[in-house]
Amino acid sequence: MGKIHVLPEHVANKIAAGEVVERPASVVKELLENALDAGAGRIRVNLEAGGKKLIQITDDGCGMSRDDAMLAFERHATSKIRTADDLLSVATLGFRGEALPSIASVSRLHLETRAAEDAAGTVIEINGGKLLRVEEAGLPAGTSITVRDLFFNVPARKKFLKAESTELSHIASLVTHYALAHPDKHFELHSLTNAMLVAPPVATHAERVYQIFGKETLDQLIPIAAAVELQRIGLPQPPPWARREPEDEQNGAGAKEPGEVRVHGFVSKPEIQKLNRSSIYIFVNQRLIRDRLVQHAITEAYRNILPPTVFPVVLLFLELPTAEVDVNVHPSKTEVRFRQQSVIHDFVRDSVRAALMKARPAPQFAAEIGARPTATPALSSAARASSAPASGHWRELYAPADFALRAPDLPPESQRLQFEGGIAVEGNAAIAVARFPRQTFAGGDSCGNVLPEPAAETESSLASLSTLKPLGQIRNSFILAVNEDGLWIVDQHVAHERVLFEKILRQRGAERVESQRLLMPIIVELTPAQQAVFTEIADELRGNGFDLEPFGSRTIAVKLSPAGVDAAQVEHMLHELLDQFASEEQALNLEKARGRIAASIACHAAIKVNMPLEQNKMEWLLAELAKTECPMSCPHGRPVVLRYSVKDIQRAFKRI
Ligand SMILES: Nc1ncnc2c1ncn2[C@@H]1O[C@H](COP(=O)(O)OP(=O)(O)OP(=O)(O)O)[C@@H](O)[C@H]1O
Ligand SMILES: [Mg+2]
Repeated sequence: MGKIHVLPEHVANKIAAGEVVERPASVVKELLENALDAGAGRIRVNLEAGGKKLIQITDDGCGMSRDDAMLAFERHATSKIRTADDLLSVATLGFRGEALPSIASVSRLHLETRAAEDAAGTVIEINGGKLLRVEEAGLPAGTSITVRDLFFNVPARKKFLKAESTELSHIASLVTHYALAHPDKHFELHSLTNAMLVAPPVATHAERVYQIFGKETLDQLIPIAAAVELQRIGLPQPPPWARREPEDEQNGAGAKEPGEVRVHGFVSKPEIQKLNRSSIYIFVNQRLIRDRLVQHAITEAYRNILPPTVFPVVLLFLELPTAEVDVNVHPSKTEVRFRQQSVIHDFVRDSVRAALMKARPAPQFAAEIGARPTATPALSSAARASSAPASGHWRELYAPADFALRAPDLPPESQRLQFEGGIAVEGNAAIAVARFPRQTFAGGDSCGNVLPEPAAETESSLASLSTLKPLGQIRNSFILAVNEDGLWIVDQHVAHERVLFEKILRQRGAERVESQRLLMPIIVELTPAQQAVFTEIADELRGNGFDLEPFGSRTIAVKLSPAGVDAAQVEHMLHELLDQFASEEQALNLEKARGRIAASIACHAAIKVNMPLEQNKMEWLLAELAKTECPMSCPHGRPVVLRYSVKDIQRAFKRI
């Protein structure tokens, strides 16, 4: 008996309708998902002309019987769901029974398939939706679908396809990210004779990241893994008198245990800063999606670690019971809706934040220099194959607009070289050295000096901050310090800013922030916009050590200011703060307001650059910094310390 059936109309009508095939990448996405749903262990994608001429996807999955293969091209024919209730907990990537008929109607499609249990396979040919040929044939188990001349019968659509290289870049991103989500499967992507991705199965996601992007990228990422019982963090329980009896709860998810939500993946260290969100990849139950809620949670997690205008690199895999996520919300299945939105939001935010705090990553001296928002090392490098297929060389390309996925530079070896090129900065000797091919002088230098064992790759962590010994200052602004890990450079202003920021938040949480009495009240005049914000945040300002009173219309008198803020700066600081809030588009929330105020006070009270510091002051500052929760960046997201590891030093001197 066949597995595929046509959904009854009332079920089909419940499926989010819309355009399924938009471009070559959407064909690849649908066929990839079908192969994954078919349980394939090996998936190979072949392309010609960025998929415009040919897309072929071959898998070793369950295959189809002849009858199923015929049925698969009917609209709403699927083996994956049966009833409307099934739509409430979809466990497969496909569920609409729309992809194959949609693709077949706008291309010349050739299908070869054999179910493992069948002796013979089936070949089907369809041209622009018209069945041309059905034949029996000897075939390997699995399925191969070839889609030629996409939109050959819809000239209007064809005309609007992007350049081959753009389409290729979209597809490469897509395949790469599915490969990242399924490290246990073998993925290949070929464009004509060019092998763009060959990824044999590996045991972990980290190995997959390494395999595809290389070591440097992996080193820039912090692994994250967390889980929580949904019911414990779930929505507030109704009071006992309002609770329904279990038999009332017949329908859907309500009757079942909500289960567990898990998150794992990678988030980038704070020194990696991207100009847009296109390096944030979110998978929900192994489906690649775009999701504002999760993106917002990530931004929140990086608040006061990254500046608000830049974004991290994130690869996040969320797994939750199928009944907790509605996948039937978007025609191309690229969005989902969580049933417990705020629970998921907070869980993601807290997990990412905890991972960042735990790792306390030390910005690598070299990586930092390459981390200008414009630099695109590894994970987010948009790339495309060169038009000369033999060269296999990849070049930078702009971020694809709608799918927001980017391809890796391949192979990893050339990626590494490119990364080194990327971090090379003129006039910086330490980095410049790294640009030349490495020579190793094993066993010591030519004078017979033998180095102690190369320091074991020290954890790139700020845990060792507490052992730092300051040596002095560069231009009275940057503290130079050393410990077993290497050489450190600390920006004295932002370091103090971080120390004060956390102190103020702590004090604010406890009760009141320390303040100082001003010799004379300072009179501050406000613009109407500032006045409006002031009325909203006046209490919070008072909680933070200000004593302010209205003094005529749009004028305030400040009698107390937070400790450490110079009286001469009070007016400027208040104006700056109020302006910041005034330009904010979103509604203020208390936590955000507190963070902002604390950051502003910290910034104005912190020691400045161009200030000589005595040895004991430097020691005190480094010790205080080591105690902070997040010593790697200031509350505005700038890095606090740079580390030049022993390994970097050895490498630069060509000792390793
Ligand atoms: N590579 C494959 N291997 C085995 N069976 C397949 C493969 N591709 C498609 N099928 C079968 O054909 C059916 C129709 O595929 P199609 O992609 O059109 O719909 P779907 O995957 O069920 O839902 P969606 O439209 O959401 O993708 C599938 O339900 C599946 O049973
Ligand atoms: Mg499908």
